[in-house]
Amino acid sequence: MKPAQPIQFDNEPQSNEVRAQILDQEPYATRTFTPSQCVISYSAGSYHYTPEGRKLADFTSGVLVANLGHNPVSWWNRVQKYLGLDALTDSGEYAKCVPLTAYNAITEIEATANQRLIASLQSAPGGSRINQIMWSASGSEAVQKALWAAMKRTPGKDMIIATRGGFHGKKGLAGAVTGSEQDKERDERVRFMSFPKAECIDIESRKQPLDLTSYQAELDALWNECGDRLCCIITEPYLGGGGSLHPQKEYLQLLQQFCRDHDLLFILDEIQSNFGRTGPMYAFTHYQVEPDIVLLGKGLANGVPASAAVGRSDVFECLDYGEASDTWSANPLTSAAVVATLDEFEQNDVIAKGLELSVVIEAGLVRLKETRVIANVRGEGCVWGIECADIGDKPSDDVANDVIRACYEGNADGQAIHLLGALAGNVIRISPPLTMNVEECQHYLEVMYDICQSLAE
Ligand SMILES: Cc1ncc(COP(=O)(O)O)c(C=O)c1O
Repeated sequence: MKPAQPIQFDNEPQSNEVRAQILDQEPYATRTFTPSQCVISYSAGSYHYTPEGRKLADFTSGVLVANLGHNPVSWWNRVQKYLGLDALTDSGEYAKCVPLTAYNAITEIEATANQRLIASLQSAPGGSRINQIMWSASGSEAVQKALWAAMKRTPGKDMIIATRGGFHGKKGLAGAVTGSEQDKERDERVRFMSFPKAECIDIESRKQPLDLTSYQAELDALWNECGDRLCCIITEPYLGGGGSLHPQKEYLQLLQQFCRDHDLLFILDEIQSNFGRTGPMYAFTHYQVEPDIVLLGKGLANGVPASAAVGRSDVFECLDYGEASDTWSANPLTSAAVVATLDEFEQNDVIAKGLELSVVIEAGLVRLKETRVIANVRGEGCVWGIECADIGDKPSDDVANDVIRACYEGNADGQAIHLLGALAGNVIRISPPLTMNVEECQHYLEVMYDICQSLAE
């Protein structure tokens, strides 16, 4: 329900005004839950700055989007170069540069983006099945288009297995494969199977081998129920929105094997994990699987809206002319941003930086457990979840909100951290840009430790 009052903080007059105005003029439904409603004036690298001039370390990268950090100058220069924006210095009324929309036409930068992205995917271990790109603007659309293609591949085979508790978006088929059968208005073409949770609740439990017996039994039961209508399995490498649950590799490998045994498509939703989040460029390498279709988004263009289903051309070609087209897919700005992002990854050792940062994040988050505010820590690379504990009479969901708010307000020295609203109620996502300075990250993890400690008192 829409709150009667907007979120307000003392000493933030400009931010408070923006908060009030947006709450009034936009439907509440377009916001996701946030305890701070941080107002950002500008961002640079791993930091946000509020209208009052407060600096916040960004432990979110947007929502795992700005993997390179916010507004890297070299990246913006590349985007502008690919668009021919140097022409802006011309004295004419219109610049002679690549158009921002090329509907019913194609551009050279789109061809370059295709070629570069396919090369990147095919050179990654596990990417050999990928030879076509179906562009979109948002993650949900990429999911929708991939499922359309999978459902059209063999007439009569239009049923999908999705993993329970997953998040693939809110619209259309993306919404239908999100959540579980308990959510209302389910699509009768979707069946859900279990995703490991208890078995990977913390770093330590995830180190134990996973007993696959019950998962195999679920798959076999689904095959008996509707095998003649199944076309694919869709899952995430780890449950992102579902609470940052990172399974043992053998779970994904089991799903893949089931697909291979029954000629189903194995679709991996990497919208959150692509471009270095779990360590390597793509999570399919990390999990040692070889999907038929991979869904990309978020970090794909470092902040310019872009997504794509990438995969087997024999599957994508099942869709007819125009069926997957829309206004924004593969628009020139997106294409330029994707190429610029690939350039940065290939030329600036971003993956190595992310791996270095990962070690610091893990150590800093595990240390938070000493405060008793954090019960479980899980994650990999630069994507982590910390699950809050109950403190006294206070339930863990409220504790999570307190941590997020207290980090936003900062410590006595004014050092503050921007966090996303909790996942699954009590899990705080930690996902700074891969390029965050290691010492600075360590420092802000210590700030977080002190904040957690004061909340435990
Ligand atoms: C794994 C995954 N798939 C799909 C989506 C949907 O993406 P979008 O919000 O761009 O539609 C998200 C968004 O959080 C996601 O995390």
